[in-house]
Amino acid sequence: MTAKKRVAILISGRGSNMTALVEAARDPGFPAEIVGVFSNRADSPGLQYAWLAGIPTAVASHKDFPSREAFDDHVQSVLDGWNVDLVCLAGYMRIFSTPFASRWVGRMLNIHPSLLPLFKGLKPQQQAIDAGVSESGCTVHWVIPELDDGPTILQRRVPVLPGDTAETLAARILVEEHIAYPAALAMVARGEAKLS
Ligand code: GRF
Repeated sequence: MTAKKRVAILISGRGSNMTALVEAARDPGFPAEIVGVFSNRADSPGLQYAWLAGIPTAVASHKDFPSREAFDDHVQSVLDGWNVDLVCLAGYMRIFSTPFASRWVGRMLNIHPSLLPLFKGLKPQQQAIDAGVSESGCTVHWVIPELDDGPTILQRRVPVLPGDTAETLAARILVEEHIAYPAALAMVARGEAKLS
């Protein structure tokens, strides 16, 4: 078997997608290993899970850096320390400086709880309800410097049901996120999905 890809996960909060990736990577046949979890918030519940799972963690707040670029330089140094091949964003709530995002093009993935290009940005589940669509879902996509954009790697769909709220729809989508993200990472790590 070829060497596993070394993956860092960037989070800001709950970390359920991070957990799904860590659990998938426990399978000896999974083509990637999670070598570090970085959070920009010290109170991210996901950090504790990573720590208990024995995965190296790092935390830094942008408030301690003079500029977006300086903060991203720090994130880059953390990733360099872990010798990372691929980065998975999982609920990471910071916008990148263009140089950082450009540097990782083709090696950075994100998950968004809508069928992109529909409902970019904040509260996509509420946007789906407000738009009256009959289905929504999640998208794993390549990260390019533009927010919530970049070619799709994988999508999974769910129905939007009568009486759904943003919360019930989010819960239905989240189940699919936890399937989609490990599947997409495996495709990328095996070289089956490439940014063209
Ligand atoms: C997920 O819905 C993800 O699609 C979005 O932010 C949420 C993060 O949830 N980008 P979690 O921290 O992975 O539980």
